[in-house]
This record gives sequence, C-alpha cells and structure tokens, in this order.
Amino acid sequence: MCIFATMNTKMKVATKFIHAGMEPDPSTGAIMTPIYQTSTYVQSAPGNHKGFEYARSQNPTRKALEDALAVIENGKYALAFSSGVAATDAVIKLLEPGDEVIAANDMYGGTYRLFTKVFEKFGIKFHYVDMQNASNIEALINQNTKLIWTETPTNPLINVTDIAAVAAISKAHKTLLCVDNTFASPYLQNPLDLGADLAMHSSTKYLGGHSDVIQGALVMNDAELREKLYFLQKSCGAVPGPMDCFLVLRGIKTLHVRMQRHCENGEKIAHFLRKHPAVEKVFWCGFQDHPGYDVAKKQMRGFGGMMSFTLKDERIENATRVLSSTKLFSLAESLGGVESLINHPASMTHASIPREERIKNGLTDSLIRLSVGIEDAEDLIEDLNSAIG
Ligand SMILES: Cc1ncc(COP(=O)(O)O)c(C=O)c1O
Repeated sequence: MCIFATMNTKMKVATKFIHAGMEPDPSTGAIMTPIYQTSTYVQSAPGNHKGFEYARSQNPTRKALEDALAVIENGKYALAFSSGVAATDAVIKLLEPGDEVIAANDMYGGTYRLFTKVFEKFGIKFHYVDMQNASNIEALINQNTKLIWTETPTNPLINVTDIAAVAAISKAHKTLLCVDNTFASPYLQNPLDLGADLAMHSSTKYLGGHSDVIQGALVMNDAELREKLYFLQKSCGAVPGPMDCFLVLRGIKTLHVRMQRHCENGEKIAHFLRKHPAVEKVFWCGFQDHPGYDVAKKQMRGFGGMMSFTLKDERIENATRVLSSTKLFSLAESLGGVESLINHPASMTHASIPREERIKNGLTDSLIRLSVGIEDAEDLIEDLNSAIG
C-alpha cells in the first residue's frame, strides 16, 4: 500500500486528489505512473516474482489507481473494473440463489437491467423502493435480505437518500450497503464515512472526467470483503486495461477543481431553468425546497452539476426539439465530463426500464437530463435559452 493510503485522514482534499496513490516509478523515478502495457511478468524461478504474475490478477498501473481510489473515498481498499456495470456485477456475484436485494426505484437504467434481466434468472430477488424515506426499506427486510443497493443523488430524478439512516438499518439487519456514488463523486460525498460498506463508481463519469474512458470502481474498508471481491475481479476477468487506469489516475488529479466548477455552473443553470417561462419543473438537489435538500446539505459538500427538467408543453415533440437544438450541450449518453451533455433518459440511458415502471416512479417521456460541464456558464445559459425558445 502506498504511503498516502496510510495518511488519508490527515490530508486536505486538494492534496489528496493530486498525490493519492502516487509514488515515483521505482525503476526510473518517473513522477507519473507508467502505463504498464504487459500481459505477464517474468519470474526468476517458479513462484519467485515481484508481486505481479499475470495482468488479469495484478498490474502496477491498476494498483496505483486502486490505491488512489481508496484514498479519495476514505477507504482502505479499492478495486478497479472494466466498467461501472462490471463493478456492480461483482457486488451481486457475492450473493447466492435465494438471497434478496432491496434497491432504489430510481437509478441508472443499466443497473436495473443487470438486476432484472441477468441476475433474477439466477434466483436472486430484487425489491425496488423509494429510498427518499429510509423507513420504506425496513418493511421489506427479511432473513434473506443480504444487500441494500442505493444511488444518491439518483439518475435521473436527483432524489436524495439519507446514507447514514440507511446504513443504520443495514447494520441493524446485518446486510451489506452499497452506494452508487457516481453522481456525487468522492469530492462531494464519501459513503463509507456515512456507514456504507461499499462505495461504487462508474469511473467513466467524474473520476475520468474527460469522456475518454469506460471504467468502474468499488471502495471498501473490510479486508474480508476486499478478498471476496478481488477473487471475483480476477476470476470473472472484468479488469480495466493499463491505459484506461492511467487516464482515470490523471482524471483524479483535477477532480476537485472540476467539481468546484461543475457545482458553480450547475447552480447558475438550475436557477436559470427554474425562472424560464417554458420550463415546468427542475430537479436539482441544491434548491432549498427540494425534498432531499436537508439531507444533501448534511451529507454532500456541494450539489453538483447533474439536473433534469420538464417543459410546460410536455409533448414529446417539444422535448425532442430542445434536445436536437442545443449547440454546446451535445446530445449524448454519459455524464461527468468537462463538456456539457444533454440526454433523453426515456429513450437513451433509461430505455431498458419498462415505460409503466418509469412513469410510476416519475421518469416521464419528456424529461430532459443535463450534465453541466465546466465551460463558461453564460455561454451554456445562452445555448439552453435559444434551444428552449
Ligand atoms: C449512476 C450510474 N451508475 C452506473 C453506471 C454504469 O457505468 P458504466 O457505463 O461505466 O458501466 C452509470 C452509467 O451511466 C451511471 O450513470
């Protein structure tokens, strides 16, 4: 483990994000961790090696990234995966047929798809509840409940879950709690500090930050849990390549600066949208009248740059017109990059959720989601203003 991993409670965030996991390369002194583009490592005699045997099991670039991820999430251990979905997949593979999971009813569509279309047929039962009220969870807990899965703020409705309250329920019933921390990033929120067992990330988003990599991560404190997940990581093989690990390591170094600007721009755009006469509702957890505002204020260091909105004229053609008219906001899936993106959850990121289920939980056909980037806020507002009309 790198020296910074042992110092993680003392360092301030800006220092942590720049130095986390970084040691000068032992062979050359290179300040940036090299991209160890290798599949295997030479042994001088069978079993006599330098801690690296085969790159699915260990890679020095990945190790530096995993050390960094642990530091920035205030955890002891981290594991990097080839995508966010692969990280989620590993967590569910901890379970046995007959086990039950209580999951949030508003979350990334791909997580819902993995649960319903892949794991249900292996005998794992999933219950979906509104986790804005933590007590909803308690009613569903029974002796088979092994995992509580939540996402906060949620994708795309920006609902907020009280992590500490859910962690108390989880501990009382001896279940695992995994929090998808993708929307907040470790700069805004640290689920392990609030009692979660696992913090999960789609590192594709804010951690990478430049829309050039697909990757996932799990961070935890428990050594036994780390061993089980490491076994799944190497046995199932969804590991990221060294180039991608390098890109996420580099992204982490500027996370705090980018997040500060995402938050500033997010606030300006949320308020602009709220005042716009053609806009019906803006979903952003920094509004004082947002139902999760108090919890968000308590557990987050800022409100982030993710938001969704609906138009007063809620015909789908009208939403499509806005989605196709922005010039700076690119119409694309994903989020968390330096550039602003606009997205139509119903047909894009959340298309895998049946329409009836989506609508029941408030995800309407005309909902528009924004990932506010770090461009100049005035330009972004002008772009939205001309697209909304
Ligand atoms: C909140 C959230 N969790 C998980 C994922 C899945 O991550 P990936 O696309 O890296 O597999 C996404 C992707 O959009 C997401 O938004």
